[in-house]
Amino acid sequence: MRHPLVMGNWKLNGSTKMVKELIENLRNELNSVTGCDVAIAPPALYLAQAQQALAGSKIALGAQDVDVNLSGAFTGDTSAEMLKDIGAKYIIIGHSERRTYHQESDQYIARKFAVLKSQGLIPVLCIGESEEENSTGKTEQVCARQIDAVLNSLGAGAFENSVIAYEPIWAIGTGKSATPAQAQAVHKFIRDHIAKQDRAIAEQVIIQYGGSVNANNAAELFSQPDIDGALVGGASLKADAFAAIVNAAAAAKKAG
Ligand code: PGA
Repeated sequence: MRHPLVMGNWKLNGSTKMVKELIENLRNELNSVTGCDVAIAPPALYLAQAQQALAGSKIALGAQDVDVNLSGAFTGDTSAEMLKDIGAKYIIIGHSERRTYHQESDQYIARKFAVLKSQGLIPVLCIGESEEENSTGKTEQVCARQIDAVLNSLGAGAFENSVIAYEPIWAIGTGKSATPAQAQAVHKFIRDHIAKQDRAIAEQVIIQYGGSVNANNAAELFSQPDIDGALVGGASLKADAFAAIVNAAAAAKKAG
């Protein structure tokens, strides 16, 4: 049975004070949670501080991006080797904000996937369609294309112990989440798409939903059979809201 993963994507938010306080509060709120894996992805600059603050807790360290190179003359980048060294476990790649603001292509993101696997890190591959693609019926086509970039270069086996986050772009930071039925339909499509190549891998891959997940809509989303937790932006910056989402995932797992 799949274990849900709830991961906080802090994006470009934080300060030494905020990292200290938020992690302290998260540790208090999530001390006894079982049945759900939990991770936070602070900005790269605060990973070392976060790693120390998380020591001995059940909350794993994540990061928001990685470079395709392991080391060398690549000014401003962060490598998979460094993320591993600092104790990060889950690394977000292909977030729509990277695709849009940094012009990252499907093929480039597949290289990031490969470099993470080479270091034993867990990629959290974000995929999802724009509002226009959604309204013109292209959701499945876009998700298939984004998954295929990894499937075609690395094979279905790359999705063993990897995470996919389905994040419809129109739902990110808008307060307008996909409905549980809408999200479930796309999650099932993604799982079936991978199953065409490898059923066992498709059954075990974690498929998170992301896009305006909050304390109020989490339980219903997590009640869907193919939704395995969430990638949470805005609501991950408040310990009580994030903890409520984690608890909803743990409860859904027990009920399921
Ligand atoms: P949101 O962001 O929860 O603020 O919509 C999700 C994400 O971008 O990962």
